[in-house]
Amino acid sequence: MSGGGSRIPGFYRLSVEGRRAELAARVGLSEAETATLEGGGLTSGTADLIIENVVGIYSLAFGVAVNFQVNGRDYLVPMVVEEPSVIAAASNAARLVRAGGGFVAEADDPVMTAQIELLEIGDGDAAKARLEAATEELLSLAQAALPHLVDRGGGARGLEVRTLPGRVILHVHVDCRDAMGANMVNTVAEALADRAADLAQGRRGLRILTNLCDRRCVRVSARVPADVLATSTMDGAAVRDGIVAASHFAEDDPYRAATHNKGIMNGVDAVVMATGNDWRGVEAGAHAFAAVDGRYRPLSIWRAVPGDAADADLVGQLEMPLAIGIVGGTLHAHEGARLAQRLLGVTDAQELAMVVGSAGLASNLAALRALATDGIQQGHMRLHRRSQGLAGVAGG
Ligand code: MEV
Repeated sequence: MSGGGSRIPGFYRLSVEGRRAELAARVGLSEAETATLEGGGLTSGTADLIIENVVGIYSLAFGVAVNFQVNGRDYLVPMVVEEPSVIAAASNAARLVRAGGGFVAEADDPVMTAQIELLEIGDGDAAKARLEAATEELLSLAQAALPHLVDRGGGARGLEVRTLPGRVILHVHVDCRDAMGANMVNTVAEALADRAADLAQGRRGLRILTNLCDRRCVRVSARVPADVLATSTMDGAAVRDGIVAASHFAEDDPYRAATHNKGIMNGVDAVVMATGNDWRGVEAGAHAFAAVDGRYRPLSIWRAVPGDAADADLVGQLEMPLAIGIVGGTLHAHEGARLAQRLLGVTDAQELAMVVGSAGLASNLAALRALATDGIQQGHMRLHRRSQGLAGVAGG
């Protein structure tokens, strides 16, 4: 984003028009872009080119979370979500994290993985050895299938062969640069499958990406001084300890971990949707990653650091795969998604992943702080009642 930072005290008190004017001034939006905020950015004519059997447009609310700072840079974070209090909660938590220096994030190279299933293999280990010996040949076939990606600095990065009962699986890792990459990776899977089956002396089966893209993870940490966590009824150290206890609960119990992770996905999905990305892929990857060692776990943990100090900070750490892009797919057909990217001002897919991960950790912090203090219903129901009031009006 250009100029003005992401701190906009009182933003929530402005009218919708007032917020648009504030954004226009800070980000330098044109009149046409501001108008997109009213229409949503998609006409039925464009929609008809994106999916099938179109009969209309379905709208969701588009909001902006404030206060975010990631790796020292301010971001206004666009969020599309149907649930009240997600954006207020993320903005509040981002303000707390800001007091400790903001989010610190890093993202892996944008590497996705194609899976080629090979069946009717006599000796799996021998097939594995032959495939590995042909690494160079297979990688050049992959490069040849994606000349434009290679020109942009991406392309095939390596192979891996896994033997499973009854099948051998060839993984091809592809750096997709700024795209989510599903189409690229599926192209590679289809281009290599026949040669891989010959080498394995078997038959090709499925050829498709894996959504468990664990080579494309984002890691985010947040450090919050205990005193800023205080509420009107609890001091900061007690809130910090309540959040750490909530983290342990999620670490010990998959039933709680699922809800803990839902709180993370509140922030993640809202930005993923606003920026026109595939939220089902992100969800599939997140939950598979959470269970990758055979037990479903929280995607973030929280601790007091240093553990033995009365005034210790609260430190949160999140790690999750994030397959999202800033080019390709339907992104460019959707003016709302383009506008969301303009608001963010990210320059590559990895930077977007770092902001999305930060939104996830912020949402998680807000939920745990509420749960460790007053419970979530008080704030949530206040905001919920506004939309229920609207239903009353709409229903006459
Ligand atoms: C509600 O959308 C999300 C929470 O349930 C998350 C959590 O329990 O950590 C509040």
